[in-house]
Amino acid sequence: MARILAIESSCDETAAAVLEDGSRVLSNVVASQLALHAKYGGVVPELASREHLRSVVPVVREALQKAGVEWRDLSAVAATSGPGLAGALLVGLTYGKAISFATGIPLIAVHHIEGHIQSVMLEGRQRGEPVGLPALALVASGGHTHMYEVCDSGYRLLGKTRDDAAGEAFDKVAKLLGFGYPGGPVIDRLAPHGDPHGVPFTLARVKGSPLDFSFSGLKTAVLRWVEGHDLAAEIEARKQLVRHDPQPSSEAWLSVTPQATRDLLASFQHTVIDELLGHAAAAAAQMEDVRSLIITGGVACNAGLRAAAGKQWAGLPVYFPTPALSTDNAVMIAAAAWAKFERGEFAPLTEMAQPNAALA
Ligand code: KG4
Ligand code: ZN
Repeated sequence: MARILAIESSCDETAAAVLEDGSRVLSNVVASQLALHAKYGGVVPELASREHLRSVVPVVREALQKAGVEWRDLSAVAATSGPGLAGALLVGLTYGKAISFATGIPLIAVHHIEGHIQSVMLEGRQRGEPVGLPALALVASGGHTHMYEVCDSGYRLLGKTRDDAAGEAFDKVAKLLGFGYPGGPVIDRLAPHGDPHGVPFTLARVKGSPLDFSFSGLKTAVLRWVEGHDLAAEIEARKQLVRHDPQPSSEAWLSVTPQATRDLLASFQHTVIDELLGHAAAAAAQMEDVRSLIITGGVACNAGLRAAAGKQWAGLPVYFPTPALSTDNAVMIAAAAWAKFERGEFAPLTEMAQPNAALA
């Protein structure tokens, strides 16, 4: 029996999990810093590092306790080595190294995006319907909008964003309109109250690879729309709302969001979804042999995206992570570490954090 303790600290979640034999989740602990960063309208790197430092030991202790295991029951310790915020990554990785050094179990360094992909593979194994490979993986998060071919032998990059990530576009639009941070969940909840065709947006084609994404033009189009409408009062009302309650209810948001702005949100979300799924269909059409479509990363929580993709997209069965494994967590890091554990792919104690690490 092999048990892996995994630690994730690449952005604003300190997380630890214990995974047994590649598919049994013994524990999954996530300490979110959302409330801390919300008032600044985004993640403040220095605050994130400080919070990780505060949380990493208790979070790991809780993960071991919930799993009912002790250090000696572990076969390996895994930590996210990149990509992410340098100071944040350092905390989890350094703690992982210290555990490896002190207990003698091997260290496994995990790429954060591989984690997002492997969480979906893990849940497929748990359901008894493994995700068929090769797969097309669309990873859309706050830092990434990338498409990969996933095979037994590894990953091949098919397309990526030239500028903002999809989640970043959600966050920036939300911030511009006074909806606080993170933007994705709020826009997702309010979008059904607006007309997705109310504001016509078009996305400029990216020169070069047709599979690359660009979201900065859409962000600018939203900015122009906002400049052309008198929104100062409603934006101020929303900022007031967040000041009193960092996580307002949908009703509270709706009470300070007139129909025109609801239509803007719905149209923005609709355009992002169209872009993501349009590219996925184009990538699938180019692949010789593809059996599944994986959609993962924080943006994969989006209810509109899930509904639009359905169970089949571009002729492929679609796999999303369950909401609990969509945003950052350590189960996904343990899932990616499992494959490396089986291959004996261990990292030296000199392993460095790589804020800009590429998966492929
Ligand atoms: O994967 P994740 O937790 O962290 C990164 O690796 O970046 O993704 C966070 C991103 C944020 O940009 C957040 O706004 C977005 O995912 N997000 C969503 C939703 N939930 C989170 N975007 C759209 N709709 C959602 N429901
Ligand atoms: Zn992530």
